[in-house]
Amino acid sequence: MSEEIKKVNDLKSMIINEINNANDLVTLKAVADKHLSKKSELNSLMSLIKQLSGDEKTAFGQAMNNARKELNELYQAKEKFLNEAMIRAKLEKEKIDITLPGIKYNVGGINPFFKIIDEMVDIFTSMGYQVKEGPDVETDYFNFERMNIPSNHPAREMQDSFYIDNNTLLRTHTSPAQAHAMDEADAKPLKIICPGKCYRRDDDDATHSHQFGQIEGLVIGKGINLGNLKATLELFLRKMFGEKREVRFRSSYFPFTEPSVEVDISCMECQGKGCSICKGTGYIEILGAGMVHPNVLKMSGYDPEVYSGFAFGVGIERVAMLRYGIDDIRKIYQGDVRFVEQFKRK
Ligand code: PHE
Repeated sequence: MSEEIKKVNDLKSMIINEINNANDLVTLKAVADKHLSKKSELNSLMSLIKQLSGDEKTAFGQAMNNARKELNELYQAKEKFLNEAMIRAKLEKEKIDITLPGIKYNVGGINPFFKIIDEMVDIFTSMGYQVKEGPDVETDYFNFERMNIPSNHPAREMQDSFYIDNNTLLRTHTSPAQAHAMDEADAKPLKIICPGKCYRRDDDDATHSHQFGQIEGLVIGKGINLGNLKATLELFLRKMFGEKREVRFRSSYFPFTEPSVEVDISCMECQGKGCSICKGTGYIEILGAGMVHPNVLKMSGYDPEVYSGFAFGVGIERVAMLRYGIDDIRKIYQGDVRFVEQFKRK
């Protein structure tokens, strides 16, 4: 072997060693930059060819080509190996242990107050009603006057409230939402329910609270009659309390409806036989309702000769207590998780 070829092979062996010893991509790249680039020591050996003759030239050229080819292949194989090793190490490190228990979030329940609102909104919107809300803080005008309860009216006694000033109070019922909706409707037909809170100066006990919820209903159109009211409330009450419920209408009095009714359902505990829940009567009072008083229609811009309507008001807590067998209204407000968790969505 010529001396020149020996130089090529020695250099080649040295570079092979360096490639083999490079254990990361940065080191390997440095080896390649140094030995496999155009200006490398290996390439500079090419100038030796000038001193050689005929056959020696061919042999030398072959040795150079073989060295370049072998080193490039070795470099690429090593690069591939190091890349794969890096990915393998990363995967190993980022392994997720699926046998570890996850983080448990405690999901609370929905307060029965809001469950009843949701259910009633579902029932009534399926019958084409729209949902409207009125303000909790009302003027005397909307809470009483527009509901046909003038300042000297004895019915004011039934609904004592919390006054903010002489003219402003926390609404005693959701009925003033009727007046707001009628003003907005501009003497057009209406079909709405208004869920919300009401306030009365009342002693708090197992069945009374100074703050409570009502859902108001109002339908106004041409030819609306008591039969429509009866059919609507029967449908609603049977959806809410079961198809077997008897629904009873008793005549009553509200200043804003004429005629007025109070609506009872047969007791679901004793099926109408009489027990402690229905106080021996077989029936449970559920809501107040009636045909919208002509004065209310007039004050709201409707001609009572052309338009008629019905309205009803349901106590939310009362419905919740009956539906879920809650024995004390105060439990609904106290925010005790043990109580609310019983109403978790299944
Ligand atoms: N606003 C009445 C109350 O709070 C209930 C009611 C509403 C009665 C609508 C008739 C019509 O007692």
